[in-house]
Amino acid sequence: MALCYIAKILLFAHIGLQGAAATNETTTPMTSGTSAAGTSGTGVLYEYGNATDRLTARGDGIVSVNPTVKFPFGGNTYSSFDLYNRGLLYFNGFVIAPFSANIYNAVSGNIYYRQSADPSLLANATQDINTYFPGLGFSAQWVFIATWDKVPQNGGNASQVNTFQVVLITDGTISFALFNYADIQWTNGAQDRFAHHYWVQWLIGKTEPKFIS
Ligand SMILES: *[C@@H]1O[C@H](CO)[C@@H](O)[C@H](O)[C@H]1NC(C)=O
Ligand SMILES: *[C@@H]1O[C@H](CO)[C@@H](O)[C@H](O)[C@H]1NC(C)=O
Ligand SMILES: *[C@@H]1O[C@H](CO)[C@@H](O)[C@H](O)[C@H]1NC(C)=O
Ligand SMILES: *[C@@H]1O[C@H](CO)[C@@H](O)[C@H](O)[C@H]1NC(C)=O
Repeated sequence: MALCYIAKILLFAHIGLQGAAATNETTTPMTSGTSAAGTSGTGVLYEYGNATDRLTARGDGIVSVNPTVKFPFGGNTYSSFDLYNRGLLYFNGFVIAPFSANIYNAVSGNIYYRQSADPSLLANATQDINTYFPGLGFSAQWVFIATWDKVPQNGGNASQVNTFQVVLITDGTISFALFNYADIQWTNGAQDRFAHHYWVQWLIGKTEPKFIS
């Protein structure tokens, strides 16, 4: 099963006056490249690795992220959200799920993350958004990148692993999520979506969130 070189881009338009939110989506086949572990920069994934990123804890790691630019999403702006090892970002009732599945990296696989306002990264993000959503005159002010590097499924091992990434981009008013899939070798856990959503509900300890995936 190969979902290689596919990027999915979601636009979350935050309309402040009405408190309303709209979502537009485009799926884009990318043209080239794979990524080496932790050293990407070529191909479908934004750069990631130990030089710039932190790692989540192994197993059922959860990291709380406090964006330096509040992230507009679902009619709110968020000054914090949680990154779950199991393939999702949780925003108080909403989930952005690049690959919500039975991921478990206790033994192998790393999940890297960072938020950044590095000018070179912002320039790249700006260019990517303006390529796929021309006419917005968008200028990125903040980027968050989480990269699941060679993660196995629960009970699996390093012989069958997935590498993918979610990138959040905002200018403080409009926000985007890029789902970048470099190498998908297993989908079993992902196919059992109904059970998985119940698991997520339990993990989050709240009523079932609204999924965007
Ligand atoms: C979403 O796309 C539709 C059709 O392409 C367009 O009319 C609409 O303005 C877009 N909405 C946003 C929020 O960009
Ligand atoms: C990054 O650091 C972690 C923890 O030390 C390590 O397991 C991983 O292999 C490193 N990544 C790379 C690409 O060297
Ligand atoms: C921006 O994109 C260029 C060209 O792909 C790349 O060489 C550079 O490393 C990227 N910068 C960052 C910070 O990702
Ligand atoms: C790793 O997982 C694969 C696929 O599930 C299985 O065929 C293989 O036997 C496992 N290897 C080890 C060392 O457990």
